[in-house]
Amino acid sequence: MPTFPDTPEFTGLNTPIGEEYALEHLPVEGRIPDEVAGTFFRAIPDPAFPPYLDDGAAVLSGDGMVSAMRFAPGEVSFAIRYVDTERHQVERAAGRALFGKYRNPYTDRPEVDGRDRTVANTTPVWHGGRLLMTKEDGRPYRVDPRTLATLGRYDFGRRLKSATVTAHVRIDPGTHELFFFGYEADGLASTKVAYCVADAKGNLTREQWFDAPYCAMMHDFAITEHYALFPIYPTTCDLARLEAGGDHWVHELARDSYLGVMPRYGSVSDMRWLRGPKGVSCYHMMNAFEDAAGHIHLDQCLANVNAFPFIQRASGLNIPPGENGARLARWTVDLRDGGDAITETVIGPPGDLPMIPAASQGRPYTHGWLLTMNPDMQGPPVAGGPVGAMFNTLLRLDFAGAPPQALALPPGHAISEPVHVPSAKDGHQGWLLTIVDQQTGPSEFVHSLWILDAGNVAAGPIARVAIPHRLRPQVHGWWVSAAELDAAA
Ligand SMILES: [Fe+2]
Repeated sequence: MPTFPDTPEFTGLNTPIGEEYALEHLPVEGRIPDEVAGTFFRAIPDPAFPPYLDDGAAVLSGDGMVSAMRFAPGEVSFAIRYVDTERHQVERAAGRALFGKYRNPYTDRPEVDGRDRTVANTTPVWHGGRLLMTKEDGRPYRVDPRTLATLGRYDFGRRLKSATVTAHVRIDPGTHELFFFGYEADGLASTKVAYCVADAKGNLTREQWFDAPYCAMMHDFAITEHYALFPIYPTTCDLARLEAGGDHWVHELARDSYLGVMPRYGSVSDMRWLRGPKGVSCYHMMNAFEDAAGHIHLDQCLANVNAFPFIQRASGLNIPPGENGARLARWTVDLRDGGDAITETVIGPPGDLPMIPAASQGRPYTHGWLLTMNPDMQGPPVAGGPVGAMFNTLLRLDFAGAPPQALALPPGHAISEPVHVPSAKDGHQGWLLTIVDQQTGPSEFVHSLWILDAGNVAAGPIARVAIPHRLRPQVHGWWVSAAELDAAA
C-alpha cells in the first residue's frame, strides 16, 4: 500500500482501501425480508496512488470502485472491485499517479495527454439490463453486474456524441425510458449541454445540445411527466483558470441561478429560462412533478452557497454549514404566465442524498427520505466523505401532512445514502438498505448494512448484516432486484 498524505482526504474513514475483495456468508442479525432479493450496488472513490499535487478536491478524483452486496435466500455476500478505467490502467502500469488536479488536464503529466481522465466513481446506474459506472466529467464505464469486471467505456453503441454523461439520470416509471444529460459536453469550460433519451432497452433515441447561461456544475436534473428541468447554480468554471493550473470550480455568490424548462420530448429551442435567487447551490434534487393546476414543482436540497469546503476555499469564502441557509426547497413555476419568476417554498430541513420510490419519479408524491445531521447530537459528527463530515440521521418526510420520522444514530455513527427496495404488498412502503459506519478508534471502524422498514424508519433496523472488512464512504448506490438481474443474464 503506498503512503498517502496525512490529511482528512486520506485518513480516518477516508483512508484508501487499495484492495479488491469478496466476502461470503456474512453474519446476519434479525430476519431479512423475502422481498429484499437482489443486489445493492455502491460507488466508492478510492485513490490507488497518492496525488503528486496538493488538491483540495482529491476526494472527488479517487479511482472508482464498485461494490455489490448480494441478497439471495439464506446468503448475503459482498464484493468490491476497481472500475478499470483507462486512467486506472495507465497509472497502474506506471505504479504512480499521472493525472493531476480534479478536472484539470493542464496539471497532468505529459505522458497522459489526451487520455481519458474520468474515474467513474459516482453512481452505479442500472438501465436496459446494463450496469454503468458514471461520473459527470466523462462517459460511463460498463461493468458486468455479476463479476464486477469492467467491460469498457460505454457510448451507447457509438451513438452518443456528448463527451460527458451525468451521474444523476432519471428513469420514467411508466415508459422505463432513461433521461440524462452531459454538461461541458464538448470540452472544458464549455456551455454546451447534451440532453439525451434512451428507450427502455437502452437504445439512444434522442440527443440534442443547448447552451447553458454560463458554464456551471450541473450535478443533477429532474423530469416530470411532460417536462425536463435543468437547474443552473453559480458554481462556475473558467478556461483561463484551468490553463493556469487552478481549480475547476469556484462559487459566485453574486451570480443568478436559473431553471431551464422544456417539454421532455420537445426541442431544446423550446427551452424557457426562469431566474432563481443569486448565489444558491444544490447537488441533489428529490423529485419534480406537475400538479392539477399545471404548475411545475422542483424539490431540491438547496443552500445559499456551495457546501464543499474546497470549493469555498477556491472562491475566497468560508461560510460554515450552520450558516449556509440549507433547506429542502420547492421551486414552483407557471409556464403560462409568460414571466421568468420562480416561487420558493421551504418543505423540509437541511440535508442531502434524497431518496424516493422509483415509482414516484417525476410524479406527484407523498413521501421521501433524506439524510441530515441530528441537531441534538453531542460532539462532532464522524469525519469523512467529500464534505468532511458524515450524516448521522435518516429522515422520512411526508408531504401529505404526517409528521416527519427520524432515525438518529448514536454518537460516533455515520449513515450513507440508502437505496429503496419496493414491496409488492399493498400499502407497504418497502425497505431502505443503508451502510452504517461506527467509529471505534481514531482510524478504526465497524461497518454494517441496516435494513429498515421504509414506512417506519424511527423503529430502527429490522435486520443488520455485518461487513467484517474496511469500507470507504460511498457516493451513490442503486438497487437491482434478482428478477431484473436474472432477466439481463
Ligand atoms: Fe450526486
